[in-house]
Amino acid sequence: MTDRELLNAAREASKNAYVPYSKFHVGAALECADGRVFTGCNVENAALGSTICAERTALVKAISEGCRDFARIAVWGEGQDYCYPCGACRQVLVEFAPDMEVLVGRMDGKYVSYRLRELLPGIFNF
Ligand code: THU
Repeated sequence: MTDRELLNAAREASKNAYVPYSKFHVGAALECADGRVFTGCNVENAALGSTICAERTALVKAISEGCRDFARIAVWGEGQDYCYPCGACRQVLVEFAPDMEVLVGRMDGKYVSYRLRELLPGIFNF
């Protein structure tokens, strides 16, 4: 799958976002080493801290289906600017794949790519 296809899958997933509070749709597409792709969207809650980001939705879907080896994740948000994974999502992703590639998209179709390690230096683990 090309970067562009993975970003398109993330954008498609954002359509399912449940965002009555922020109205900000986010989608993620997580590619496993075996080629499987799990998508996710943000799911908000009236208790705002219980909101689940798109990246973590995708990750939990993948883990619960037995996939733990990740190659890339694409994140797409409907803002004018690039939609970077939040700090909590970086920490949760790094648990499994610190060297994975992170594609960060924006509405006009442009994207930038990083290694997760670059986005979260000084990884906490024990
Ligand atoms: N959001 C994500 O889904 N992923 C991120 O990495 C950043 C934030 C969502 C959470 C919330 O539903 C909305 O964006 C506004 O914060």
